[in-house]
Amino acid sequence: MKSGPKSKAMFDRAAQSIPGGVSSNFRYWGADETLVVKKAEGAYLWDQDDKRYVDYRLGFGPVVLGHARQEIIDHVTEAMKIGNCFAMTNEYEIRVAEKIKKLTGVDLVRMSNTGTEATMGAIRIARAFTGRDKILKFDGAYHGFQDYTLWNTYPPASGVGYRESPFLVPQGSGIPRSIGDLLYSLPFNDKELLEHKLKERWQDIACIIVEPLLGNQASIMPQDGFLDFIRAQCDKYGIVMILDEVKTGFRIAKGGAQEYFNVKADIVTYAKCLGNGFPVAAIAGQKHIMGEVGPGKIPHGGTYGGNVIAMAAAEKVLDLIEAGELEKVDAHGKKLRAGWKKILDAAGVPYVIQGPDAMPGIVFTKEPVCREYKNWADGDHDTYHAIIQKLFEKGVMPDIDSREPWFISACHTDADADFVLGAFEESVKEVIG
Ligand SMILES: Cc1ncc(COP(=O)(O)O)c(C=O)c1O
Repeated sequence: MKSGPKSKAMFDRAAQSIPGGVSSNFRYWGADETLVVKKAEGAYLWDQDDKRYVDYRLGFGPVVLGHARQEIIDHVTEAMKIGNCFAMTNEYEIRVAEKIKKLTGVDLVRMSNTGTEATMGAIRIARAFTGRDKILKFDGAYHGFQDYTLWNTYPPASGVGYRESPFLVPQGSGIPRSIGDLLYSLPFNDKELLEHKLKERWQDIACIIVEPLLGNQASIMPQDGFLDFIRAQCDKYGIVMILDEVKTGFRIAKGGAQEYFNVKADIVTYAKCLGNGFPVAAIAGQKHIMGEVGPGKIPHGGTYGGNVIAMAAAEKVLDLIEAGELEKVDAHGKKLRAGWKKILDAAGVPYVIQGPDAMPGIVFTKEPVCREYKNWADGDHDTYHAIIQKLFEKGVMPDIDSREPWFISACHTDADADFVLGAFEESVKEVIG
């Protein structure tokens, strides 16, 4: 969809001062298509031409309680009067750590600012703890823009070679080839391959970093027992299990994926929903490993970790989540997926709807279930893309990238669901017939 005249003029201005007119490559949709936002409130977002969208991108996931949520604004506004950045611990920070512990069952928490910083820190801790250098990740999993894991994030649809020894593809230029020597990447959900690799190479492997579900592959779910299998293999070989909950944390359950899938990692990384859009992240985990972080032991730092604005936002977010806001998120997600099913069944198009209600993904595929990135890659993304374009025209904004699930907030209403499903039905008819 072409952007309106005011958005276009603003984007052209942005491109004069910001490479590509965006502060993250993932936000660029083309010179004539990239929108510039004017404001957002609750479940809605307005572009510079005052066109309103029901927002299912939610800033790539974080805004689980809705945009410009008044209780959070009030709490942050009051908190920041004491100052923000002290190079000392503050009480907001202590309370947030206590609340994260209570909701998730972790023992200790270090504050950070972004998901990328959190995964980088978690990997450092795992390497220091084990004295080993290598990382094992899964194809299709994105763990932020740091070099260590920015491989096989979006592998070519043609695949990455022989299943037993796949080659590594960096996401782009500028990632040192030698860093690939510190990494293994395997297909998600394949216990046999994982077992085989670990049996051969466990002595080198510091950590398995795993997104509990592939939140960057339309929410491909772990098959029954896969996360438990990783847990057991990590225990067997003294490998650190890092659960990257940057997308799932404080979204799919109060206690995140650890609660949803009943699994306990050694280290968990949180970011997005912890701040509802304020930049905040946390590296959390069990005492036997997180207790080793400290001066003269395992290094971790950051000027802004635990700053008052981020902590006040997180404190209010956690209070609202504890009070039951995620129930509204799940209810809306359930309603959408039931509606999609009816519409897509009637259209006779093969599809899979997957993921938890709080972040469902749709893939147009003949596969009965997507298990790994290849199943997603084999899907019909042109049709999905065409439908999303139609939805944009009608004022509904899921991500245009078919890898992103639909992110639901507690502010999406039943009336929104009716409107969105109406638009979805029309869009499907216009594209598929
Ligand atoms: C699973 C996962 N980990 C890490 C990150 C990186 O987080 P950030 O963009 O805050 O650096 C993302 C971002 O989308 C993510 O989805």
